[in-house]
Amino acid sequence: MSSMCGIIGVKGKSNSSQLVLKGLKRMEYRGYDSWGIAMANRKLKVVKEVGKISDVAIRPFIIDGSQLAIGHTRWATHGLVTKENAHPHLSCNGEVAIVHNGIIENYQELKKELIEKGHKFRSATDSETIAHLIEENLNKGFPEAVRLAFSRLQGRNAMCAISTSSHELVGARNGSPLIVGLNDTDAFIASDIPAFLENTRNIAYLDDLEMAVFDKSVKFFDVMTGKPVQKKIEHISWNIEQAKKGDYPHYMIKEILEQTQSIERAAKQDKRQLLGIAKEIRKAKGSFLVACGTSGYAAMEAQYFFSGIAGKHLNSVVGSEFSSFRHFLTPKSLIIAISQSGETADTLEAVDVARKMKSRVISIVNVMGSSLARQSDHFFLTNAGPEICVCSTKAFTSQLSVLLLLAYASAGKLSEGISLLQDTADQVKLMLNDGFLAKLRKLSASLAQKDDIYVIGRGLNYPIALEAALKIKEVSYIHAEGFAAGELKHGVIALVEKGTPCIAFVSNDEHRQATLSGAIEMKSRGGFIIGISPEQDEAFDAWIPVPDAGNAQPLVNVIPAQLLAYYLAVARHLDPDKPRNLAKSVTVK
Ligand code: F6R
Repeated sequence: MSSMCGIIGVKGKSNSSQLVLKGLKRMEYRGYDSWGIAMANRKLKVVKEVGKISDVAIRPFIIDGSQLAIGHTRWATHGLVTKENAHPHLSCNGEVAIVHNGIIENYQELKKELIEKGHKFRSATDSETIAHLIEENLNKGFPEAVRLAFSRLQGRNAMCAISTSSHELVGARNGSPLIVGLNDTDAFIASDIPAFLENTRNIAYLDDLEMAVFDKSVKFFDVMTGKPVQKKIEHISWNIEQAKKGDYPHYMIKEILEQTQSIERAAKQDKRQLLGIAKEIRKAKGSFLVACGTSGYAAMEAQYFFSGIAGKHLNSVVGSEFSSFRHFLTPKSLIIAISQSGETADTLEAVDVARKMKSRVISIVNVMGSSLARQSDHFFLTNAGPEICVCSTKAFTSQLSVLLLLAYASAGKLSEGISLLQDTADQVKLMLNDGFLAKLRKLSASLAQKDDIYVIGRGLNYPIALEAALKIKEVSYIHAEGFAAGELKHGVIALVEKGTPCIAFVSNDEHRQATLSGAIEMKSRGGFIIGISPEQDEAFDAWIPVPDAGNAQPLVNVIPAQLLAYYLAVARHLDPDKPRNLAKSVTVK
């Protein structure tokens, strides 16, 4: 019924529907089940389709000439993917169109009330409720009707609405992102900056329970009181080239290869801030690392960094499990939340829990101005640039870079950490040569028809084994599992058969021998061992040589795994940028 998606609204000179369509194409990574656009001239014109928006030509929209349009690209969470459920949704009188991102937790109660008042629902979505709620109060003026409607919604939501009679565009947010973009002729409001980056870099971030009304100019209001609020217009440094695919066949490969620069950028943090936060970590009574998915593995890796480098125990917990540990939180606890998007609902909920206990919240985010950055006492930007591919690659190594620096800073050895990262960035540049890519492409082609792939690692390589398996699962749909190498003998080894591919991360560290023993145990059950290691070993049936990077080994090791996952997807004729059932920003619980 509900969706978590990309939404956009434009009030422009004459080509708003075209700008909306372009914006949706740039936000398709947020959802690609179905899409829709509403354009307002004297009447509303609505176009909705099931399927990907990337296949839609812009030309037919150019002639529309509308000044007001909204659009939506959907990633269904509960309801079916049908044309009826695709947004925009209209009021009964056809005067109001809305697009929505989030889940209206009290929609059943609202829908019942509206049906009793005579409203006719055309879809099975919670979102349609908003259009009818607005219609109820249209006599108070369109912006006020939107405000009253939005103030009744429970849950994390963002919406845009247009009206044919007042000719205004209104956007409101509470928990799901909305950003305003302005240039001389057009005004935009969207779930993410790349949606309008081609047209402007002057933006304003809406905060929770704020709304923007676009009439002749744009004005901002508090949703609960209706009072005006002042917003700062900020200039952002991202450029559209960074958000474009360029000559690459997919964003995924572009973003993997960008790690030749992004690690270096992530390492350029303000030293005073790093040392200040390191001091807080040392003083805190209980520090937690909180994140989800790939960022969750960065959090897990940070446990090893802090333990090994600074002799400090931090607890990593995935966002959705964090509330179970709230009893340990006090005002002296510290939470380090990690997120590429800064909009992941499970991570934000964990931060809410920490805030309620008055604990300090530090975050590591990639998207400037994101909810997480705004809700933290302090944040570090990973500066990876826009990550468009649904699966996370460069953001992960950037997160690891910042976490590594924090661990070194906590150990009083920040300069050592900085030079280690500089060396690692140089090693990554050398590693990512054509021969290396060709080798992984060839290896992937030979594995593309396998049903299962197992991945093992110990110590620093354990979270990397988990992340490698996640990457393979996400984009190639091959079943892959990561294990702590020592766990093999406790049951997992039963899965290994003749020819089963087993990836072993073997580094020049204290775990080398034990990991190799694990690899040999799998080999003696018929496993085909792929060693990702600085050194060759007779246990390996295939060897992917990586540089020796000491404590930064996880940053180096994950890259061949990302490439393997990418080439596996390509060999299986899948689109790695748009894996089935996934969306980039998981803004629902
Ligand atoms: C995996 C992936 C997801 C995200 C997770 C958290 O490739 O992309 O597992 O890592 O949804 O997202 P962020 O980092 O935006 O909080």
